[in-house]
Amino acid sequence: MTATAPSEPPLDLPPRLAGLAGDDVAEADAGPAHSESWRLLPAAQQPQWPDPERLAAVTAQLAQLPPLVFAAECDQLTERLAAVARGEAFVLQGGDCAETFAGSTADSVRAKLQTLLQMAVVLTYGASVPVVKIGRMAGQFAKPRSKPTETRNGAELPAYRGDAVNGFDFTAEARTPDPDRLLRAYHSSAVTLNLCRAFTAGGYAGLHQVHAWNQDFVADSPAGRRYERLAGEIDRALSFMRACGADPQELRTVELYSSHEALLLDYEHALTRRDTRAGQPHGRVYDTSAHFVWVGERTRALNGAHIGFARSISNPIGVKIGPHATASDVLALIAALNPERRPGRLTLIARMGASRVRDVLPGLVKAVADDGAPVAWICDPMHGNTFEAPSGHKTRNFDDVLDELHGFFDVHREIGTHPGGIHIEFTGDNVTECVGGSHQIVADDLHQRYETACDPRLNRSQALDLAFTVADSYRRH
Ligand code: PEP
Ligand code: CO
Repeated sequence: MTATAPSEPPLDLPPRLAGLAGDDVAEADAGPAHSESWRLLPAAQQPQWPDPERLAAVTAQLAQLPPLVFAAECDQLTERLAAVARGEAFVLQGGDCAETFAGSTADSVRAKLQTLLQMAVVLTYGASVPVVKIGRMAGQFAKPRSKPTETRNGAELPAYRGDAVNGFDFTAEARTPDPDRLLRAYHSSAVTLNLCRAFTAGGYAGLHQVHAWNQDFVADSPAGRRYERLAGEIDRALSFMRACGADPQELRTVELYSSHEALLLDYEHALTRRDTRAGQPHGRVYDTSAHFVWVGERTRALNGAHIGFARSISNPIGVKIGPHATASDVLALIAALNPERRPGRLTLIARMGASRVRDVLPGLVKAVADDGAPVAWICDPMHGNTFEAPSGHKTRNFDDVLDELHGFFDVHREIGTHPGGIHIEFTGDNVTECVGGSHQIVADDLHQRYETACDPRLNRSQALDLAFTVADSYRRH
């Protein structure tokens, strides 16, 4: 989603669909081992598609569709993340827990983008650090689940696994996995990405628009007012620069990247293409479904198919690291995923929970620092802090989210390593899904606007509150 149009031709070679172990390994010298040997490994969290023939037809069709992103954009993001690993930049990654097809509208995408841009401005200005902006957008349509089924009033049906797999409604028809949804996921990703590219390239994301992003935001929000003051300061700084004759292009565009969890391997594989830049028949292989993909906490088994797949692609990748990971688990993941120790290739996304981050994270961060591996550590303060409210709503307490973030900063300060960024779930709308924040949502308010298809998200006020807090923590770091 860089603002300037990429000048390279698309990656146009469809992947092999039926190949198995090792047939491409000999071509691996230009990048990571590209083989489909991961297909022989156990793949957790894959849907039970009732119609394998239809699945094969759909993946064959996906394999013929254009890539959503270009290899050069992925490489550029790797470079940006290398700066994060060196301690010179900060990642802001966020968006819905689960995007939905119905939610891929102009209004909803714009509101998320505005929120992300506002947070980025707060961080860039407040913490004086370059911010690498990555949307959890344009592809986040599949979810791992803790239980394969859901039971309501004695009726048991397959769990909702994201719009790319089945429907949210609690009926047997909706919950049956439908491979055609993979095509809809591709098209919804394309629509969202197109909108993001248009917003960013069309000038809407330029810094002279700082006030415009806040315009349709609730005027009485304390976070909105605080933001407005900051935007005023930025305005004055821009006027000053203009008066001095400086009007750099960098302030008029924004670099924004897409990301999602690489969960459905049939989908990810179908969008994997060999890079044919410079006419290299044996170029590296990229997953063109997004610039950045990550492997989740439930699928990061070292000998599982997801890690095998991640090894085979050249995108920058992430791995979620939960509280049960050991130092040797993390070192083994680094060795598997970044044997060349390419800075920016691997981002570790710590999601420990507020109560455990200070106990568990130091051992992991120290082990990686001693090893010398160039990784970026970023903090997901959401997934370790989910609980059920008395009303039955899955929620998170904003104070726990901040507490985990503070713990993350404390750990890095003590060890002398770089707190590289945040990974959060938010939406641009005024939902009531997480309790707390400067608007003081309480458990009894949750029912008012509880709209998430999966985990509870921060609303716009809470997301901005969080950005101000993170900027303060980073500045003091
Ligand atoms: C998620 O990011 O929505 C998710 C399921 O996270 P994790 O893999 O960390 O549980
Ligand atoms: Co989630």
